[in-house]
Amino acid sequence: MVTILGRAKINLTLDILGLRDDGYHEIATVMQSLALADTLTLTRQEEGITLTVDLPGLEADERNLAHRAAALVMKECGVRGGVHIDIAKRIPVAAGLAGGSADAAATLRGMNELYGLGRSDAELCALGAQIGSDIPFSLMGGTIFATGRGEIMRRLTDFPEMPVVLAKPPFAVSTPWAYRSYDANPPEEHPDNAAFLDAIAAGDTAACIRLAGNVLEPVTEAAHPVIGDYRARMYACGALCAMMSGSGPTVFGLFADVQTARAAAEEFRSATDAAVHLTQTAGRYGK
Ligand code: C5P
Repeated sequence: MVTILGRAKINLTLDILGLRDDGYHEIATVMQSLALADTLTLTRQEEGITLTVDLPGLEADERNLAHRAAALVMKECGVRGGVHIDIAKRIPVAAGLAGGSADAAATLRGMNELYGLGRSDAELCALGAQIGSDIPFSLMGGTIFATGRGEIMRRLTDFPEMPVVLAKPPFAVSTPWAYRSYDANPPEEHPDNAAFLDAIAAGDTAACIRLAGNVLEPVTEAAHPVIGDYRARMYACGALCAMMSGSGPTVFGLFADVQTARAAAEEFRSATDAAVHLTQTAGRYGK
């Protein structure tokens, strides 16, 4: 039996550079792991893949990315035997936090360990990229600049540990919908990744916070104005930075201290319909 964490992520920057021939978008994004994580327990079984998830309504079959990750490893690595995967789900679903990718990444690592497959990180990332653009990042964790469709990674100086409040409005956003909406009406303002990378290399956290930005935020916000309300509320609660993660709809706030973050989480719980999590930025696995 193997127990393994799959961490959520936020995007500190997210830019779209163009539409590719394969239908994906060329992106450039600084991704950051959070301590908030799902816990996956993998147990060997004679054959087949079975799944249990403690969140009613979440598919526990072939549609689940963890199931697809296990099936891919079994096929590609010629695994003899099966696996039962139990997921304790804590990361909000369809929220822009890469929760499904976190579970797939944990499954890839878990299968590698459970069956002693000896696959390297690079090999696991290549497998992960076949089923989702965010999975290579989810395998590595920490602070990473990702390009291509998200699978080409450069590790950055770790962003400092900071309290984070997540506020997810009570609806889901589909990633393909967000990208299609971007194509239909691309915003003019783009985050300056080059300046962000200079700032993080120089350890200038204040500049990083100033330069954080997500080109999909105005796109998703146009359809869901509550995102703007959450952002304003996050700032009113003392956030240093508040923005949408990924294709949304979760709004995150970065805070200087845990007391202010805790009060902000309380405010969101009492005054909004959001699902609220108080967490923190987290370094790479094993650190
Ligand atoms: O790779 P993943 O399955 O997570 O992507 C989901 C969808 O998001 C893709 O089918 C595509 O519509 C969109 N996407 C994109 N460009 C990316 C990543 C995702 O267009 N770089």
